Amino acid sequence: MLNCLPCTLLDHPKLKHMFLKRVKPKKQHEVARMAEICALSHRQTPVDFIVDFGAGVGHLARILGYGYGLQVCCFEMQHDLNQQAGEIDLKLESMAAKHLSQAETRHFRRPVHLTQRLESSTEPAQFLSSIREALQLEDDKFRFGIIGLHPCGNLGPTLMRMFLGCPQARFLNFVGCCYQKMTTQPTHPREQVHGYPLSRFLSNKPGCHLSYEAREISCHAMEVYTDRLSAGDYEHLRIHSLRAAAERIIVQQFPDLRHCALRNVKHSPGMTFHQYFQKAVQGTRFEALDSRILSNDQLETDLANWQRIVSFYTLRLIMAPLVESIILYDRCLFLMENDCQVKIEAIFDPRLSPRNHITRAVKL
Ligand SMILES: C[S@@+](CC[C@H](N)C(=O)[O-])C[C@H]1O[C@@H](n2cnc3c(N)ncnc32)[C@H](O)[C@@H]1O
Repeated sequence: MLNCLPCTLLDHPKLKHMFLKRVKPKKQHEVARMAEICALSHRQTPVDFIVDFGAGVGHLARILGYGYGLQVCCFEMQHDLNQQAGEIDLKLESMAAKHLSQAETRHFRRPVHLTQRLESSTEPAQFLSSIREALQLEDDKFRFGIIGLHPCGNLGPTLMRMFLGCPQARFLNFVGCCYQKMTTQPTHPREQVHGYPLSRFLSNKPGCHLSYEAREISCHAMEVYTDRLSAGDYEHLRIHSLRAAAERIIVQQFPDLRHCALRNVKHSPGMTFHQYFQKAVQGTRFEALDSRILSNDQLETDLANWQRIVSFYTLRLIMAPLVESIILYDRCLFLMENDCQVKIEAIFDPRLSPRNHITRAVKL
């Protein structure tokens, strides 16, 4: 099939564990599908190598490098993730040496992991120079594809700008996430460039602003929530009232720290608010807070409001796909305004992976 190019090593009884060891089912699904699409792009638009923006521990690069034989240069700002990535690569190679013949590993390309932060202000010349150094290239006569699996916040817009700014960049495949972390004119008035809006079309329209709250809700999954609502699984839905009560404590103690991220806590039957709070603040700056400072009366009132919170959240969630569509179309228009052919497709199962739209572009 034209749209199918599965990676056979992902089914290898011994090696599949090396590709996907300690990788959650969500990420397994994403990297396998994304790698296949990138390999298809490479087939349609041949390049010398691929650059992965915000590569994390390199799960995607590993499938591309060892599964599809594509050279990948990973940019990741966290040094420890790059270190882990290098260690997993070597383990995979030693497993492969045990279980595969030389002919079966001849196509292997070990990914290159670079610790570097790519900013909105990073110039294409700087970026190209880092690539040349990392891959030991003598000149700029190379072609590459740019990919990003959930590059958060401004990293998505940055990789689009880099794609447009580098004549060597031939294709682009990325699935964005954490839209609320993007900079905008109202939130960062002193900055020259912003994450949203990008297109001339939207920038010239008054009223195109999307609030932090709107961009944040657009990252949430509607499908799983709808399943829970229709199944009457209200116990699960109570989790938001626990989060709301936690926010009351945070705002009381640190009025400037509203809306900070807490840990995700999986609902478990009979979990008390205090148990929830301990888990939610673990490892955050709120770890020392004592949930008992909230009076029992206040806590009871907050938790009794769970149905109102569910109704409010449901209404917000109804708007989420609209907000995400605006962000995705803005990106699409930006690339089109700069002479690209663009496609947006849903490539992941939204129940597993809510940020599931890939933006694919080639230059005309
Ligand atoms: C959501 S994670 C995705 C990781 C990986 N692509 C995956 O799917 O497993 C985003 C990654 O991008 C990295 N990152 C975020 N902003 C970055 C930047 N400006 N420059 C380089 N890396 C960045 C983060 O450290 C993080 O590892």
